Amino acid sequence: MPEVNVALVGYAFMGRAHSNAWRQVSRFFSPRLTPRLKVICGRDRRNVAKAAGQLGWEEWATDWREVVGRPDVDVVDVSTPGDSHAEIAIAAAQAGKAILCEKPLANDVRTAKAMLKAVRKAGVPNMICHNYRRIPAVMLARELVASGRLGRIFHFRGTYLQDWPVDPQMPLYWRFRKEKSGSGALGDILSHSLDLGRFVLGSEVTEVAGALETFVKRRPLPESPRRKGRVTVDDAALSLVRFANGAVGSIEGTRFATGRKNYNRFEVNGSRGSVAFDLERMNELEYYSQDDDGKERGFRRILATEPEHAFFKAWWPAGHIIGYEHTFTHTVFDFLEAVASGKRVRPDFEDGVRNQLVLEAIERAARTRRWVAVAAL
Ligand SMILES: NC(=O)c1ccc[n+]([C@@H]2O[C@H](COP(=O)([O-])OP(=O)(O)OC[C@H]3O[C@@H](n4cnc5c(N)ncnc54)[C@H](O)[C@@H]3O)[C@@H](O)[C@H]2O)c1
Repeated sequence: MPEVNVALVGYAFMGRAHSNAWRQVSRFFSPRLTPRLKVICGRDRRNVAKAAGQLGWEEWATDWREVVGRPDVDVVDVSTPGDSHAEIAIAAAQAGKAILCEKPLANDVRTAKAMLKAVRKAGVPNMICHNYRRIPAVMLARELVASGRLGRIFHFRGTYLQDWPVDPQMPLYWRFRKEKSGSGALGDILSHSLDLGRFVLGSEVTEVAGALETFVKRRPLPESPRRKGRVTVDDAALSLVRFANGAVGSIEGTRFATGRKNYNRFEVNGSRGSVAFDLERMNELEYYSQDDDGKERGFRRILATEPEHAFFKAWWPAGHIIGYEHTFTHTVFDFLEAVASGKRVRPDFEDGVRNQLVLEAIERAARTRRWVAVAAL
């Protein structure tokens, strides 16, 4: 298969997850384009050189501008904090590269729209990395909704709970600073839950109410821990939502749910049944059908690992489960297929803007303590 040269910007958490995906995809799937791990970019010479060796990249660099301008780079993968997504992605679009960008697309709607405009103008393939869409059990939930098996949809209930910053001594690193991350739990994890709601229901959020809270207001500065700086993002974000299809729901993201590490869960209730998903048991989907015989009615656990389930044929025999890292491999596979075919792949930068419009409406609703209509694209 013809090769495409990939440049990855960012080598830490997502850098590692994406590197693994780029490396594995051709070993298990047969994409029409074979990715070559050409160059990885970060700011620190020593660390990026080490990452290149460990993660399997041919070259390393410290200036993303030089990297996105290289004629031998075909794909740019943006895995940096939110404040740099736009400048990297816009430069990559102008250089004609295909772009995979981490979420949230940008730190505000205005910037996200500028990114969408740039990829549209350049006509380049683009995708935002809401990787949870590509879990086979999640895709089954969407199929059940789309097929009408759940009937009329009443509720989407999404919760994304973590607890890593509960310790007030955790330093004020980029995720606590609005100018770097845009928001806290809102953009970081509620955004995933929101994207899952839009994906599984196949419907847009039209109106929101919201509440944001910051529990730890000051944290030690990373460079001088005896001094403290102000936390400028939310620790917890809660929202009530209305969907265009008439469903009402709640979406919650918090980093202060002690004991909950990465508890990404949703439930959909409809007139003919319900589904429930929990990332900590990501190979399973709970399904309840009103059509079942009365005595046997109850939630059943579907192990979504059969060859009929999305992506599974490429991995293992039924029952041989997959994990977190596979979600990125699936994302990268579909992205490569879109680059090869020129067809739209979802979620793309337009979905990124749509998500951002909802996040911004939640912020406004929280500020004004009123319901807010989500602005049009
Ligand atoms: N899809 C997911 O589930 C998921 C999970 C975690 C994070 N994210 C997103 O991924 C992005 C990165 O988060 P992370 O957790 O990997 O962060 P991180 O702090 O672990 O890593 C950030 C990386 O970006 C690099 N970097 C920062 N500014 C840079 C610049 N100007 N030029 C070059 N490199 C730069 C850093 O050196 C580091 O390698 C964020 O947008 C975050 O919201 C997505």
